[in-house]
Amino acid sequence: MNILYVTSEAVPFCKTGGLADVAGSLPPALAAEGVETAVILPLYDKIGPQWREKMTFRRYIYVDLGWRHEYCGLFSLYDRGVTWYFVDNEKYFRRGRLYGEFDDGERFAFFSKAVVDLLPSLDWMPDILHCNDWQTALVPIYLKDAATRWWEIRHIRTVFTIHNIEYQGRYGSDSVDQLFGLDRGWYDDGTLRMDGDVNLMKGAMLMADAVTTVSPTYAAQLHDPAYAEGLESVVDAIGWKMHGVVNGIDTVTYDPASDPALPAHYTAADPAGKAVCKASLQAALGLAQEPDTPLIAMVTRLVGHKGLDLVQQAMDGIMAAGCQFVVLGTGDRQYEDFFRWKAGQYPGRLSAQILYAEDLSRRVYAAADLFLMPSRSEPCGLSQMIAMRYGTVPIVRETGGLKDTVTPYEAWRDSGNGFTFANYASSDMLYVIREAVYLYKDYPDAFARLRARAMACDFSWARSAGEYLHIYSTVTGQPWPPAEEPVRTEESAPAEESAPAEETAPAEETAPAEAAEPASDEPAPQPTAEAAQSSAEPAAEE
Ligand code: GLC
Repeated sequence: MNILYVTSEAVPFCKTGGLADVAGSLPPALAAEGVETAVILPLYDKIGPQWREKMTFRRYIYVDLGWRHEYCGLFSLYDRGVTWYFVDNEKYFRRGRLYGEFDDGERFAFFSKAVVDLLPSLDWMPDILHCNDWQTALVPIYLKDAATRWWEIRHIRTVFTIHNIEYQGRYGSDSVDQLFGLDRGWYDDGTLRMDGDVNLMKGAMLMADAVTTVSPTYAAQLHDPAYAEGLESVVDAIGWKMHGVVNGIDTVTYDPASDPALPAHYTAADPAGKAVCKASLQAALGLAQEPDTPLIAMVTRLVGHKGLDLVQQAMDGIMAAGCQFVVLGTGDRQYEDFFRWKAGQYPGRLSAQILYAEDLSRRVYAAADLFLMPSRSEPCGLSQMIAMRYGTVPIVRETGGLKDTVTPYEAWRDSGNGFTFANYASSDMLYVIREAVYLYKDYPDAFARLRARAMACDFSWARSAGEYLHIYSTVTGQPWPPAEEPVRTEESAPAEESAPAEETAPAEETAPAEAAEPASDEPAPQPTAEAAQSSAEPAAEE
């Protein structure tokens, strides 16, 4: 099974949010399961020279988008078992940032069209295009469009993942033909039409063969107008092909036993280094050197849905519980100003780091005792998982992926891996923060066991990768794992006779299609310098 993962950002090349973490770690996990996996993303100017020098130029084509005829280069590099393809066009991707440009619709329509037009230029033909968020939402539509004329791509299936339904890609109705170069029928028949506008996310939800979102709870919440941002009726209509799959994190780079950003290393069995990390952060941020005062941290974009209004309301109550507090992140001015102001009010106890720095964020995850994430909505959330991996006990609101990854502490049977509250109310949040602070101060042994349970959770991609493989297998009809090994004991053979027969059939079906691909009108991609590259790459890991 061949997977092409289509994304507008991926770690370690470029990142604005959690999508980049997922796109940087799920594909290598799929490759580790034995699936041929490649990723394709735009070649932004933000992608640094350390990556560019590892890239090989493959070829260029021209992409037609309405009346536009645009240059489109293709580069690639090989890393962690995955081929990473980069789509080059300086007019669109040399902007100093990833998003927020006046022509984002055109830029990502170009990228989406390029993905389909470049299919013959790749080394192999994918069976699945796995698209993510509105930026790649036109891919399933361009693919369907192209497949009417191009039989070699008719077997390709699409999966569309919603990382956040807030951003849908909405444009005026004229954009269908004028900007996106599509027949107006795509609008008139309602596929791309929503409330009188073009809505790219709606189009992808309808046209993809499977739709996923990043946690089961969020998948269920999307039927509710309070969470669906106007798309609840579309979610209802596609419920039959919708799945919630919890994200994983990259447990190799996020590992307190080896993270190079940390002043000391530690494990669940030997957590001593965590105290060193705490003392070092307290010193660096001008917090009082108090090893026994619980340190609460937030590492977050400072935007509304992260629940910052609750924190504003409860801030003085939190500080009155007798803790230290550190917040790291940037975002809306009102929250940035609020935390700066509070830092002034609580010198030595509250630190506001209004910036984003990857290394500092890791030091915060490691140093803190408690991690606060009171989101109003949270499709999955990765920070709570990273915090747990670093032995920092999460305090979360029970929504989306927070609900699916954090189980509440129960003193009477000493269970759970964090603290949770259900209602979006600052008083409820403050109640569990106090509970957490008192447990830390008054029952250090119980807190240590809670911390150990949090650290023991498995948030690696191994499990979720399996769920994606199941979905890929369902939409392609290809069995996974591939039914090749006829290793049967003599006794079991007769009973299973019919099963292997069934299993081999689909495999054969796909074989001719695959065999035919290289023979398609592909003008043989030039030097495949991958073997040479792969030996150079692993060094880049750390
Ligand atoms: C978005 C969501 C976040 C999720 C991430 C990765 O950023 O807001 O909850 O963890 O995507 O899927």
